[in-house]
Amino acid sequence: MAKQNARQIADWNGPSGERWVVNQARLDAMLAVFGQAAIEAAAPVKGERVLDIGCGSGASSFALASLVGAQGRVLGVDVSDSLIERARALAPPDTTARFQVADASSAKLPEGAFDILFSRFGVMFFDDPAGTFAHMRRALRPGGRVAFVCWRGVAENGWVRLPMDAIKAIVPSTASPHPEAPGPFSFGDQGRVARILTTAGFTEIAIAPLDATVPFGEGETREAAIDDAVQLAVEAGPLSRVLADQPNELRTRALASIRAAFEGLTIERSVMTDGAAWIVTARNPFHPPQGVHHRE
Ligand SMILES: C[S@@+](CC[C@H](N)C(=O)[O-])C[C@H]1O[C@@H](n2cnc3c(N)ncnc32)[C@H](O)[C@@H]1O
Repeated sequence: MAKQNARQIADWNGPSGERWVVNQARLDAMLAVFGQAAIEAAAPVKGERVLDIGCGSGASSFALASLVGAQGRVLGVDVSDSLIERARALAPPDTTARFQVADASSAKLPEGAFDILFSRFGVMFFDDPAGTFAHMRRALRPGGRVAFVCWRGVAENGWVRLPMDAIKAIVPSTASPHPEAPGPFSFGDQGRVARILTTAGFTEIAIAPLDATVPFGEGETREAAIDDAVQLAVEAGPLSRVLADQPNELRTRALASIRAAFEGLTIERSVMTDGAAWIVTARNPFHPPQGVHHRE
């Protein structure tokens, strides 16, 4: 049997990881509002211990560490060597956040050692989401809580839908992945997210929509902001894969079409696109329900 999460682990240690390292500052700017909303939902207080799943280059871990203070603890785990390396390099001198390269589905985590299980867009990539959440739940103390943010569907997320639509007539269509296949939009279905968490043994599950502008790309002038947004669209996220192996002529036409789509939007140093996410919270019950399965 193939190793669990083998594809995603290879991708986050390969092309996706490299693109995230290169675009880290732009991606942090784009995701800031969503991460902040998830942190508010987690409501960490001084002294709490937080596990940040799929922490990437660490922006949310640093923010959480400053909230839990010197008596608290934040452990960021991620499968990507290069992103963990980046997180360690970006760590402010006084942060208590620590980082570990590990797969959330199998990481050796001390039982009951955390108060909060947190993630900013890092929990949609598991082959077995319910099994992985059950594994992570055991690292939470009884009564501990979960708070994460994940994307809703592609159709509601203009930052990816607009460029995708713009190249549809140009690039020969590639098969869309199954909506539940591990990837950024696999938690788009609210019912599925609730089922995963229930199967993993969580209670008090709440899933609330968050609509916010995604500032896409950045530049001093309108032209520079659009150029940067086009570059970001083809370098990071699902489009990069679609365009990777296309001939130059086709890529040039695709880029021009994405540019035209962005030109129609509001530009304020960034191209202001629509973003749609779920803010998800849940609790590890004091008394786990009988018959909790570890599979979805
Ligand atoms: C979309 S990025 C988000 C990164 C970071 N949380 C942020 O907001 O900047 C998803 C992250 O999840 C990580 N990831 C994917 N599968 C994972 C797994 N099984 N265990 C731990 N991390 C994983 C990736 O390496 C990547 O850093």
